[in-house]
Amino acid sequence: MAEHTLPTFKIDRLPKNLQKTFHALYSNGSELETYLHANEIYQGDARELLPKIEPNTVAVSVWSPPYFVGKEYEAYLTFEDWQNLLKSVINLHFPIIKPGGFLVINIADILVFRDPEMPRVQADAVNKKRSSVTREDVLSAMKKHPTYSRYQLAKLLNCSEQTIDRRLHGNNIRGGKHEPQTRVKIVGGMVEDWALEAGFYPYDRRVWVKDAAWENSRWASLSYRSVDEFEYLYFFWKPGITKFDRNRLSAAEWKEWGSRGVWEFPSVRANDDHEAKFPLELPKRVIRLLTDPDEIVLDCFMGSGTTAIAAIQENRQYIGIELEKQYVELAKSKMKSGTQKRLISESKRKPYATKSRRITSKS
Ligand SMILES: C[S@@+](CC[C@H](N)C(=O)[O-])C[C@H]1O[C@@H](n2cnc3c(N)ncnc32)[C@H](O)[C@@H]1O
Repeated sequence: MAEHTLPTFKIDRLPKNLQKTFHALYSNGSELETYLHANEIYQGDARELLPKIEPNTVAVSVWSPPYFVGKEYEAYLTFEDWQNLLKSVINLHFPIIKPGGFLVINIADILVFRDPEMPRVQADAVNKKRSSVTREDVLSAMKKHPTYSRYQLAKLLNCSEQTIDRRLHGNNIRGGKHEPQTRVKIVGGMVEDWALEAGFYPYDRRVWVKDAAWENSRWASLSYRSVDEFEYLYFFWKPGITKFDRNRLSAAEWKEWGSRGVWEFPSVRANDDHEAKFPLELPKRVIRLLTDPDEIVLDCFMGSGTTAIAAIQENRQYIGIELEKQYVELAKSKMKSGTQKRLISESKRKPYATKSRRITSKS
């Protein structure tokens, strides 16, 4: 019987479609590589699983990462780790997005970012003063009695020692005299830099206006800061041919949101099963705007599975990645539940990637 001979040429010099054929035919089986399958949610770190997605296959990747705002699922990250996570994940997207395809990142600025370098904000909260003693009263008492302690001044002015201190040094609006100050950390510039370094180009940015989070705003009544009520969507483009199809939306939809920089819809009513879900409307709009039916939509911070549900409802395929087992189970149970409109019948779904073998090119 004739022995099988391995090709004497370099597989990677062949056109891509032939490479696939030859991989299957000539693999020696020593390096069995399985690409992630479409219509599955995988548990693991995005940084480990993204390289397992078949190159140039994802039409759009839409996700909302940890925001570095103290949620339980991001407790494992320092600020530096968080930056490195986002930077690597963006970088790992470049090979897998189709040329002409998009990476859409939903993120918000960090509104309470601890900065030990920041000078203390001294708020003179005039409406909150219970004692009528003014700063001027304290200063004039100090001038008359330069040797008096805070306690003696308090007795003289018939107020508390804290009032003397507050009039002299102001109220620390965040309380806790020794806590570092907090400021806004603007994330857009960092995300833009990481995307450009990866090879993407900023294509668009939109603002999602959600419900105002009054109850979460610890400073609303004691500063000039605004409450938390919007997030961003940054659209990054991978160079290549981008199909532009005006029929993806109706004329009314183009007018209402397709061409609009501000999207307005409420956030999720109850974050009962996951701490930070985005509403279905968000991935749905992105998917409808940027992809065609049957194309692959990726979310590598899948959480409770919202993007997968949107993909199913819009007749697209999905790949989900999520670190936490409990959320993977939650997302999978949502996929299974009969409540989701399954517009794609199993038979209609194309197998995205069956087991394919990576061949070590032999010469
Ligand atoms: C903002 S939430 C996404 C919520 C999701 N959009 C939804 O609607 O349910 C971010 C998710 O990223 C997950 N995560 C954190 N680090 C991760 C990592 N290294 N790889 C993959 N997922 C990660 C968290 O467990 C969390 O579920």
